[in-house]
Amino acid sequence: MKPLTITSQLEVYESLEDVPQDVQELMEAAIKVRNSAYAPYSNFKVGAAMILDNNEVVVGSNQENASYPSGLCAERTAVYSAGARFPDNDILKIAITAKSMHHQVVTPVPPCGACRQALVEYEIKQKKAIELYFMGESGQVVKAASVRELLPLVFDNSCL
Ligand code: THU
Repeated sequence: MKPLTITSQLEVYESLEDVPQDVQELMEAAIKVRNSAYAPYSNFKVGAAMILDNNEVVVGSNQENASYPSGLCAERTAVYSAGARFPDNDILKIAITAKSMHHQVVTPVPPCGACRQALVEYEIKQKKAIELYFMGESGQVVKAASVRELLPLVFDNSCL
């Protein structure tokens, strides 16, 4: 047996005002689309906005369902929309924000495991990393230079 240590590199900004202007604008789009979340079951609203290499901003919010597993997270709503609308364009950055109807979300909310897996597929497809920024409703913003930073030991097409 030999131990295997896995490290991830992230960057933490103290507030939204500290991130670069273009990311601030992308996060504003995520905050705006968060209002369109359909989340009557969790009362947890998530918004995601991604900018593509053609300058298009594609957004998504979580969409829930009485049959719970049929719902979809904001990030996958956005990334599948981008894939459907702009199949030949690269996704450069994604901004994610979450708000609860029950409490103030002040800690950064990272994408769930299933969304990380969905997003990394597009990094592989486009052969280019997607910069990822996530936050709660307020407070710190975390940056990952690639989805892979959040998904070590990725399952990808090389595993098949
Ligand atoms: N949710 C997202 O939209 N993105 C995530 O990465 C985590 C969770 C949604 C799914 C569900 O509608 C609600 O948040 C509570 O889990």
